[in-house]
Amino acid sequence: MNRQMEEEVSPISQWYDMMTRMFPDQRLTFLNYGYLQPADTFDWLDDADLEQKCSTNLIHFLLAGTDLRGKKILEIGSGRGGNCSYLKRYAQAGQVVGLDFCPAHIEFCTRAHPLEGLSFVKGDATNLPFDDEEFDAVINIESSHCYPDMNKFGSEVFRVLKKGGQFFYADTMKGPNTTPLIGQDSVGVDFFTNVLGDHQAMIERSGFQVESHDDISQGVINAFDSEDGHLKHVLKTLVAEKKEQQTSLPPEVFHAFDTMFHFFDESGLNAYKNGHLVYKIWRLKKPA
Ligand SMILES: C[S@@+](CC[C@H](N)C(=O)[O-])C[C@H]1O[C@@H](n2cnc3c(N)ncnc32)[C@H](O)[C@@H]1O
Repeated sequence: MNRQMEEEVSPISQWYDMMTRMFPDQRLTFLNYGYLQPADTFDWLDDADLEQKCSTNLIHFLLAGTDLRGKKILEIGSGRGGNCSYLKRYAQAGQVVGLDFCPAHIEFCTRAHPLEGLSFVKGDATNLPFDDEEFDAVINIESSHCYPDMNKFGSEVFRVLKKGGQFFYADTMKGPNTTPLIGQDSVGVDFFTNVLGDHQAMIERSGFQVESHDDISQGVINAFDSEDGHLKHVLKTLVAEKKEQQTSLPPEVFHAFDTMFHFFDESGLNAYKNGHLVYKIWRLKKPA
């Protein structure tokens, strides 16, 4: 095949692909930083979901009790399917589609979440394989920082949403503290290049109405600081199990995870605390 005709594979997709093929464990279905407030209780959560309670709590909070029963919902950047499964099992959505550009995520989700009305498709967030006005709601959590063209993404979300449809949107971006970070303090933090203005411009250009907009960095810090129920605990357990099994993974893979854990425990956590990073959510609406 002509090289130019070959599909270009993003390094981000390759990284997720490797990670998910290496860790097919179904205990890990969310890939986000989660949300936690001191007064949060989890009596609404099934015991089996407590191990990922911070992530389940993030989508629970983002949806703010919106009635999605029977609705057709798209999650863009659906990862390992935790949010899509939540939408079916807790929000009683009618039909849910998870879209992701990482092939291993689509394979994993199809295996891990065999729920009626839930399907997963491979596709790009900036070129959605759906008709105009197909969905009642769109969800996007911790994925847009990976997109090369935010405005294309915004116009695609707007296009596939029905009039009056809702867009629940959450991501990390650079914060107001622009003091340069050096050495270990910058590990993982410099990966985030978007600033608040990029998100606001996308929202405005696409034509969305802003129903609410919040900085939830403190809730994300609390989740990172929690003693259990966070992505970092599940990942650390899975990596430790691999080490115990003495699975012959290349040392650079373990190094990549050590770097990630450094972000979770130190550089990333401190970046949120010091305002180098912020975590924002929006609840948006396509005008009726
Ligand atoms: C940090 S994970 C978040 C997954 C999920 N939203 C969650 O909350 O658990 C980001 C996801 O976005 C996906 N992604 C990144 N860029 C994408 C793109 N251009 N199109 C589709 N998916 C993309 C990645 O493959 C990954 O699954």
